[in-house]
Amino acid sequence: MNIDELKKKLESFNPGLYSHCISTMKEAEKLAFHYGVDEEKAKIAGLLHDCGKRMTKGQDNLTHSKTGAELAEEVFDVHDKEILNAIMYHTTGRENMTMLEKIIFIADKIEPRRKYDGVEELRKKAYTDIDAAVIMSLENTIEYVKKRNLKLDNDSLKTLKFLKEVK
Ligand SMILES: [Fe+2]
Ligand SMILES: [Fe+2]
Repeated sequence: MNIDELKKKLESFNPGLYSHCISTMKEAEKLAFHYGVDEEKAKIAGLLHDCGKRMTKGQDNLTHSKTGAELAEEVFDVHDKEILNAIMYHTTGRENMTMLEKIIFIADKIEPRRKYDGVEELRKKAYTDIDAAVIMSLENTIEYVKKRNLKLDNDSLKTLKFLKEVK
């Protein structure tokens, strides 16, 4: 499927999230251009990153990334491992993330429709020091989770620890 066919399919598959996915796709394309990463892969991963959300409605927010990677392959016929991993790890990150994975992780959090405290700072960081941006975003999430007494996610903590050590 080319990108237009993927868009069409995603729109009927998951209409509620379509505008967020289009915005993420555009942000991912810009970041990919900026960092010299394959723009086509970034567009596809950005577009499909939340395709797993429909199936996991009301469930743990983290499972949609894994489901998304499965659906991207089965329903959207994407078999590129780099794209599938970028979808798979867009919520928690992981140790040794590829540049494409970091781009999708951050594009999701800074796409123009996002509005929250600190997003402008994160937008700037994303284009100057993407590792620092991933760290900042993970720290925001962890703080948010702690404040609300929600369950801390172990994978996000591992990613944060790893990035801080290599920095
Ligand atoms: Fe997501
Ligand atoms: Fe998203």
